[in-house]
Amino acid sequence: MEFKEQYKKYLDAVENQIDRQFMIEELPQKTVLEAMRYAICGGGKRIRPILVQAAAELCGANAEDAARVALAVECVHNYSLIHDDLPCMDDDELRRGRPTCHTVFGEDMALLAGDGLLNSAFEILSDVTEFKTLSDGELLAIIRCLSAASGVYGMIGGQVVDLQCEERDNVTPDELIYLHNHKTGALIRAAVRCGCLCGGVNQNEKTEEILDSYAQSLGLAFQIKDDILDVTGDEKLLGKPIGSDADEGKNTFVTMFGLDGAKRYLSETTGEAKEILKPLGEKGKFLDSLADYLLSRKY
Ligand code: IPE
Ligand code: IPE
Ligand code: MG
Ligand code: MG
Ligand code: MG
Repeated sequence: MEFKEQYKKYLDAVENQIDRQFMIEELPQKTVLEAMRYAICGGGKRIRPILVQAAAELCGANAEDAARVALAVECVHNYSLIHDDLPCMDDDELRRGRPTCHTVFGEDMALLAGDGLLNSAFEILSDVTEFKTLSDGELLAIIRCLSAASGVYGMIGGQVVDLQCEERDNVTPDELIYLHNHKTGALIRAAVRCGCLCGGVNQNEKTEEILDSYAQSLGLAFQIKDDILDVTGDEKLLGKPIGSDADEGKNTFVTMFGLDGAKRYLSETTGEAKEILKPLGEKGKFLDSLADYLLSRKY
């Protein structure tokens, strides 16, 4: 299967899950349901759900179960974006080419919509009746992986360091890499790991090891590219504000190493990710193309 075709297969599967999950109901709290749907149905590349499903397929998992796990991971991601855009965080008004959630629904509803999506993720994963093949134990392992990666030792930890590094001029490269690996890398790594877990706990050790190393390099590359796009991107294509990092005094790969330095790191880290896949041979082809796609993406 061609890269684009396979991407679309995974994309359609998760879009279908998202669409069915987030209905707007005539309830007193309808507003927050609208805000959640606005955020999660607003497009995006769906990279994390795609990684879940690609890893799951490599580990012999049931495709429908993998799409459901992918949905949960995307819920966490969208919660993180709603909160990331809030005035007390990055203070951004544009996301995926539309006004940010708080710009439309107000900060109070956006905060609650983010909380709602985070809870949805774990409600989805703990509803064992919705899974065809995954056992309670396997779902528990997935829940543990996703909750740990999203928490204070993972993504939230990275967001904390990101905020604390604002306006600081003595941030070290190690601190910056820590920041990136946590705020962005942790969830990307968890997406791949959760995908592997869909194929059973400790069922595919060698493949899992390779995919985990791949995810670590890919996650770092992904955030370096995000830093670069904040400077070189076209706002219309990118769908989010250019120069937001500079406005907030962020430390990024571009401020630390210059644009050329950041590009060099990006190409090296992407190269690493691709190299790691080599032992998988043909089976690694999709993830190899995904690394290339993320390297040259415009949004
Ligand atoms: C944006 O993530 C936030 C980062 C972690 C860099 P994406 O670039 O995956 O955002 P969408 O979901 O495609 O809009
Ligand atoms: C966001 O990083 C990371 C999380 C949401 C956890 P950024 O702040 O760089 O993401 P964008 O550029 O706003 O999408
Ligand atoms: Mg941020
Ligand atoms: Mg941001
Ligand atoms: Mg950014």
